[in-house]
Amino acid sequence: MDIALASDHGGFQLKETLKTFLNDLGHQVGDFGTNSPDPVDYPDFVIPACRAVAEGRCERGIVICGTGIGACITANKVKGIRAALCLDAYSTQQSRIDNNANVLCLGGRVMGVELAKEIVRIWLETEFSGAERHRRRLAKIQAIEASSTYPTTERC
Ligand code: RB5
Repeated sequence: MDIALASDHGGFQLKETLKTFLNDLGHQVGDFGTNSPDPVDYPDFVIPACRAVAEGRCERGIVICGTGIGACITANKVKGIRAALCLDAYSTQQSRIDNNANVLCLGGRVMGVELAKEIVRIWLETEFSGAERHRRRLAKIQAIEASSTYPTTERC
């Protein structure tokens, strides 16, 4: 699977660890930065990664900041993105089964590496249920997006 990966400085170490983990699992990783622990602004990295997902250049995205909160708020501003902040296995599973999340948000300062790897593994392996009630709910979100005018294509 082609996966867009991005972080700020708070998620940099975890991003580097997950890049190796994802490569070892056989995935193709597009690394959208950041490339050092120096302080940066998470939208500058999260938005390009999410656009790659929204535009179909990557199938899924994983975005990481210190808590995962800023990354998640940002990701959900990109049209077509359904981003889920997952810090436990159950939420991770449901984010795919119910919400068809296409971006996973993680917090580099609030979770251990082994938990993060387990969450990533579950998230990549779990399919959307496709249930009518979930499609209906997601369609309502899509309808709100369609009535908004925020941009999708220009570079950050
Ligand atoms: C950066 O210090 C921190 O605010 C950021 O990584 C993230 O946690 C924001 O939500």
